[in-house]
Amino acid sequence: MKYFLDSAKLDEIEYAYEFLGIDGVTTNPKHIKLSGKPFKTVITEMAEWVKSKGIEGIDKFPISIEINPHLDQWEDMVSEGKIYSGLCKNFVIKIPCTEQGIIAARKLEMEGIRTNVTLVFSPSQAIMPGKANCLFVSPFVGWKENSGEDCAQYIQEIVEIYRNYDFNTEIIVAALRNGKQIKDAAVAGADIVTCGLQVYKDALEHPFTTHGLGVFRNAWDETAKE
Ligand code: E4P
Repeated sequence: MKYFLDSAKLDEIEYAYEFLGIDGVTTNPKHIKLSGKPFKTVITEMAEWVKSKGIEGIDKFPISIEINPHLDQWEDMVSEGKIYSGLCKNFVIKIPCTEQGIIAARKLEMEGIRTNVTLVFSPSQAIMPGKANCLFVSPFVGWKENSGEDCAQYIQEIVEIYRNYDFNTEIIVAALRNGKQIKDAAVAGADIVTCGLQVYKDALEHPFTTHGLGVFRNAWDETAKE
């Protein structure tokens, strides 16, 4: 399962790439805002960063850039998607899972511009992006689980549907908040997870690991070395 970083902060992306081996990046308007920089600056810096790392190309390190969320006609979505995709070989165009969004994603894919259909919250929504041969589909988990839903089954169903029909679209299980949700995605057989850096860090923690280190350190200190 690939790990993508859900962030628009270049220092986080650099750390996660160099030290944790993340496989790609997803952004959204919220993350761009949190970066504290103008949209254009963020995407320009990302384009320069992939060049500096020698990882140009969607196959090497995909970066999902979301279109202006106010656009609600496919023609406008397509025009904007084309502009972003022309800026960097790594950019995947993130489009909302609406009727107009699906039309836009199909048109872009037909022209060879890769897409990530986002804001997916049900298995039925996830089918059309697969049929449209989009590069990615992003079913969200955290928002639903925060409101009390258990999402393990919904992700399993999407994976099963995609396997039933041999869809090439990769499933990014998105908006994850904890290690249990990463595990659920892995058990379901999802292709990719995306979440913030702190979620990956927290998922590496276990109180018994900390406790065990204490036990072993004490034993080490109390043992003659020669
Ligand atoms: C996914 O591609 C989205 O960017 C992301 O996971 C949205 O959720 P969040 O920002 O609330 O985590």
